[in-house]
Amino acid sequence: MAHERKTLSIDIGGSGVKLLVLNEQGEPLTDRARVDTPQPPVPEKILAAIDELAATQSEFDRVSVGFPGVVRNGVVYTAANLDPAWIEFDLASALSKQLGKPVRAANDADIQGLGAISGQGVELVLTLGTGLGSALFVEGKLVPNLEMGHHPFRKGETYEEQLGRAALEEIGKQRWNRRLEKAIAQLDRLFNFDRLYLGGGEARKVSIDLNQKVSIVPNVLGLLGGIALWHDEQVETLASPNAQN
Ligand code: BGC
Repeated sequence: MAHERKTLSIDIGGSGVKLLVLNEQGEPLTDRARVDTPQPPVPEKILAAIDELAATQSEFDRVSVGFPGVVRNGVVYTAANLDPAWIEFDLASALSKQLGKPVRAANDADIQGLGAISGQGVELVLTLGTGLGSALFVEGKLVPNLEMGHHPFRKGETYEEQLGRAALEEIGKQRWNRRLEKAIAQLDRLFNFDRLYLGGGEARKVSIDLNQKVSIVPNVLGLLGGIALWHDEQVETLASPNAQN
């Protein structure tokens, strides 16, 4: 029997760094390990945290990593909720050198989306956490680099300024939910999505009535979706094959 390749799936977030090991079907083989995101959240500190967490896991053959910013060919281009030291940092190469395994890196919301979508029609994913993540899929294919979080929404503020964790803490759940309702209506007018998935750590605070096109998905999909970076049909847009494979 061929060796079953095990994937270490990592989710770098503004508040926590999480990881676990997946089998080839994308099912977890280990319990999720987590640490608070080190401060300041610079590359060296986060890579060191990953190293420590990875040592608590079983063996793995390859690595998928979700990052809260624009990632192309394994390189980070934005990091609004981490540190400017990330800009142009080659995350896939650095992690590959550190862990001695092939690494594929992608945006965190894209990975969450890959874990959630059905592959049919226009599917939008919003992640509600420290930042506001977004991913758009058409017939299962990712439209790359959608950064809805930093797009103007209302009252001179972006979606992330209105709906990120800082806003939630400032205005409370009720008003945040009302804003979310407005955002969903606005985005439906723009994308006419068939499905909208709400993920991220704060999705459990959503209390508005959701129509049947909208559903809440578990945050663990930010790790489970990591398996898709190793599926051929996603490689082109998500993890360039010239990155480590
Ligand atoms: C970043 C996105 C990311 C989101 C959630 C935003 O600030 O620009 O790339 O997906 O936060 O982490």
